[in-house]
Amino acid sequence: MIQNRERWGSKLGFILAAAGSAVGLGNIWKFPYIAGENGGAAFVFVYLICIGIIGFPVLISEILIGRTTQKNPVGAFAMLANSKLWRSVGFLGVIAGFMILSFYSVIGGWTIGYVIETLRGSLSDFHNPAEAGILFNQLSGSVLWTISYHTIFFGFTMFIVMRGVQGGIERSSKIMMPILLSILIILMIRGITLEGASKGLAFLWVPDWSKINGQSILIALGHAFFTLSLGMGAMLTYGSYMSKKDSVVNAAAQVVFLDTLIALMAGVAIFTAVFASGLDPAAGPGLIFKTLPAVFASMTGGTFFALLFFLLLAIAALTSAISLLEVVVAYFVDEKEWTRKQAVLIFGGSIYLLGIPSALSFNLMSDLTLYGKTFFDIVDFIASNVLLPFGGLMIAIFVGWVWSRTEVMNAVKEGAESLFESYPWFEGLWFIFLKFIAPVLITVVLLNSLGIV
Ligand code: PFF
Repeated sequence: MIQNRERWGSKLGFILAAAGSAVGLGNIWKFPYIAGENGGAAFVFVYLICIGIIGFPVLISEILIGRTTQKNPVGAFAMLANSKLWRSVGFLGVIAGFMILSFYSVIGGWTIGYVIETLRGSLSDFHNPAEAGILFNQLSGSVLWTISYHTIFFGFTMFIVMRGVQGGIERSSKIMMPILLSILIILMIRGITLEGASKGLAFLWVPDWSKINGQSILIALGHAFFTLSLGMGAMLTYGSYMSKKDSVVNAAAQVVFLDTLIALMAGVAIFTAVFASGLDPAAGPGLIFKTLPAVFASMTGGTFFALLFFLLLAIAALTSAISLLEVVVAYFVDEKEWTRKQAVLIFGGSIYLLGIPSALSFNLMSDLTLYGKTFFDIVDFIASNVLLPFGGLMIAIFVGWVWSRTEVMNAVKEGAESLFESYPWFEGLWFIFLKFIAPVLITVVLLNSLGIV
């Protein structure tokens, strides 16, 4: 047992750090573009259901495993199940963290790069997305630009994690999350007050069910994992620093609420502006880096709003990146008794190096593909589409079937007695989702990712 293990200073510290992990590029970059490509409101509706029936029950479980064991993913499973199989589930989480952070930092780097380009005035005279696209291709096509900003973004991530749970992660989340929310509110008000904004709002609120098919449901399900940082032990690790006096269910609900609210707010800010400019909402991944710069260029005060927007993206990416690094660091600190500094330098350094081929996938190595996928695409695919759903599946099975129900209930009631007394049906419902609904749906997502169904 490790003495003096670090912990959050307060419940709010946990909520902000966990919401910081959840709210990331997934909310502000990916959610709007997948909603845009899959028909807007109808997709949003399906997504909300996925969050409710899979995201929330699995999030409670993941935080609970961490809070109960007060350990990293490998140590946590070893303590509760003591079998090779479950240890390797924890270990796969550490590997997923390693992989996701490597490419996440490349995009995180772009967001900082765009803050700087906005300040330099490079984004101010576009007439259409095609022109903004030329700049994007030029920047992401430059080895120096991509590697430099990957380095800067990674440097910030390592700096924060090195300062520890309370002094680094909690403290920075308490500063960055309120800034993030304030920026988003400003951008949303700007979007809503543009002429023609109502078409954007209608796109998000008036469903067109013809756009929903098996594929879009699977995209929504897969995204529910990514956006809540589930399936790889990030929430487990953050949960391990949580006090037994606080309610896990309550904390999970607050994280889900904030994550969903922020994704929807980003959707409103972006689609009102895109529709007001008469541009295409289904522009795909380029929506943020190609369509939006053209929108900002045509708006009064556009440079200011572009600056705020890319700052928002950079902050969102950074608070998620630190949670990814923390999973890897916690493993080496807990299990291998490394110091935090050693773990951050050595493993942060290795993750940084693994990110380099991802950064080069947009330039030097763009022709190097396997099954049509670049290095970046492959790492993203294995981690986000295979390892995360697999991890989520195992967590649901573990809490639903393997861990004794009495122990689960004793653990989850710590800090939440009154909730289970006031809502006695909650226990049964949670278990139905964990035992049956989540495993079946996640298995379908996994098989689909692997091309089997
Ligand atoms: N939730 C983050 C996002 O939406 O961008 C991504 C992420 C962070 C995934 C941390 C997994 C993780 F452990």
